[in-house]
Amino acid sequence: SEFKQILTVFTFLATMAGAEEMNRYRSPLVSRYASKEMSYNFSEKKKLITWRKLWIFLAKAEKALGLPITDAQIAEMESHAEDIDFEEERKLRHDVMAHVHTFAHCCPTAAPIIHLGAMSCYVGDNTDLIALRDGFNILLSKLARVIDRLANFAEEYADLPTLGFTHFQPAQLTTVGKRACLWLQELVMDVRNLERARDDLCFRGVKGTTGTQASFLQLFQGDHDKVEELDKMVTEMAGFKKAYLVTGQTYSHEVDIHCLARLASLGASVHKICTDIRLLANLKEIEEPFEKEQIGSSAMPYKRNPMRAERCCGLARHLIALVGDPLQTDSVQWPESTLDDSANRRISLPESFLTADIILSTLQNITEGLVVYPKVIERHIRHELPFMATENIIMAIVKAGGNRQECHEKIRVLSQEAAAVVKQEGGDNDLLARIQRDPYFAPILGQLDALLDPKTFIGRAPQQVKTFLAEEVRPLLEPYKANMDVKVELVL
Ligand SMILES: *[C@@H]1O[C@H](CO)[C@@H](O)[C@H](O)[C@H]1NC(C)=O
Ligand SMILES: *[C@@H]1O[C@H](CO)[C@@H](O)[C@H](O)[C@H]1NC(C)=O
Repeated sequence: SEFKQILTVFTFLATMAGAEEMNRYRSPLVSRYASKEMSYNFSEKKKLITWRKLWIFLAKAEKALGLPITDAQIAEMESHAEDIDFEEERKLRHDVMAHVHTFAHCCPTAAPIIHLGAMSCYVGDNTDLIALRDGFNILLSKLARVIDRLANFAEEYADLPTLGFTHFQPAQLTTVGKRACLWLQELVMDVRNLERARDDLCFRGVKGTTGTQASFLQLFQGDHDKVEELDKMVTEMAGFKKAYLVTGQTYSHEVDIHCLARLASLGASVHKICTDIRLLANLKEIEEPFEKEQIGSSAMPYKRNPMRAERCCGLARHLIALVGDPLQTDSVQWPESTLDDSANRRISLPESFLTADIILSTLQNITEGLVVYPKVIERHIRHELPFMATENIIMAIVKAGGNRQECHEKIRVLSQEAAAVVKQEGGDNDLLARIQRDPYFAPILGQLDALLDPKTFIGRAPQQVKTFLAEEVRPLLEPYKANMDVKVELVL
C-alpha cells in the first residue's frame, strides 16, 4: 500500500541519517552524559535567542534614551525573539552580521535599527557571560543536592567507628560519618567558590569596537550621561548588577580563568572523594550503588567495579586540565583584541561546564546509593584494634599497681608474635588471646572488653559531625531548597 511505501522511504531516510551521524565525531560529553539542561544552556538555540534578546534590550534602552525607535519596532522584534529559522541560520556563515540579517528579515519594520551602534562582541561576549552565569546556577543546584545527600549519609553514620588511615596504612579509628565530612568540607568550599565566581561576573555591556563607547557617543551626539545610562540599562535588563567599567573589544579573559579555575578545584575535590570511595570499595567497606542488572566485568561475573567513581575521576582530570586553556588565552591577548581567543573559548568554556555537570550528576547518583558494610568494617577494626589498644592496656596495668616499662616490654614481645602470625602465617591477629593467656595481665582481664570498645577510640568524631553539619553545611543549602528533590538520570 501507499502507506507502506511511505514508511519504507521514511525508514530508509532515517537509517541514512543515522548512518551519516556515525560518520562524524560526536562529543561524548553531549551524546552520552550531559544533562539536557546544561546542553541546552550552551546550545546554538539558546545562543541565538540570547542574541535576539540582547538586540531587544539595546533597542529598548536606546528608545528610552530618546533615539527614534518605535514601540511597533520593539513589539515586532519581541514577537520574533524565539522563532529562529534553523535552516536559514545553517546556510549562513557563523558571523554576527549574518544573524542580524536573518532577524531583520523577519522584522522588516525594525530592520533599520537592529544592532544600532553595536559590534559583534556586544552579542558575543555578553552572551558568553550570561551562559557562564546560568551555567553556575545549574551547577550550584546540583552541587547542593550532592551535599544534601552526603550530609544525610554523614549524619546516619556519624557514630559508626571505622579504621582511619595515614599513608593508607591503618592508623587510629575515625567514623564513617566523620570521613564523609572531610569530603563535604571540600564541596562546601566549592559552593562558596562557585557562588563567588558567579557573583563576581559583570556584564560586558555596551562598549563598542575597542571598548571606548565611541559609536554610542556619536549616536547620542556627545551626551556622556546617556551613553553611561545605556550601558547601565542594558546591564540591568540582562539581570546583571554591574558592567565592567572598562573593556577592550572583549571583556578581560582573566574572567574566564577565574571561572574555570573554580570548576577545576571542584574537579579536584570530586577526584579526591571518588578516589577514597574506590579505595574503600577495594576493602569492601563501602560501595557505590550497583543495580541488579548491571554487569561488572565481561570476563569476571562476580566483579562489582566502582565504575561511577572511576568515571568521575576520569572526567575530573579533564576538568582540571581545561583551566590551562584560559590561562594561555589570557596571556597571549594583544592590545584591545585579537581573534585567536574565540576558537579556544568556544571549546573550553562549554566543555568545562558540561564536564562539571556530568560529574555532579554522577556523584549525586553515587551519594544517593552508597552502600556501607558495617560487618566488614567491624572485622577490619577487630583486626587492628588490639595493637591500638596497647596504650590503654599499659595505663590500666599501671593503675592496677604495675610497672609501665615492664608492661611495655611484655606487650612489645606479644605484639611481635601476633604480627608474625598475621604477616608470616596469614593468620588473624591473636594479640588479645596472647594477653588473656599471660598471667601478668590477670589483674585487668575484667577490663579488657571495655578497653577494646571501638566507641572509646573515636574521640569527638560524632560531635564534630553534628556541629559541622548544623553550623556549616545545612545553612549553606538554604537557598537551594526548591531544587532539592530533583532526580538524575544516569547513562551507565
Ligand atoms: C537552562 O536551560 C533550561 C532548558 O533546558 C531552562 O529551563 C533553564 O532555565 C536554563 N537554566 C538557566 C539557569 O538559565
Ligand atoms: C543511579 O543510576 C542508575 C542508572 O541510571 C539507576 O538505575 C539508579 O536508579 C540510580 N540511582 C539513584 C539512587 O538514583
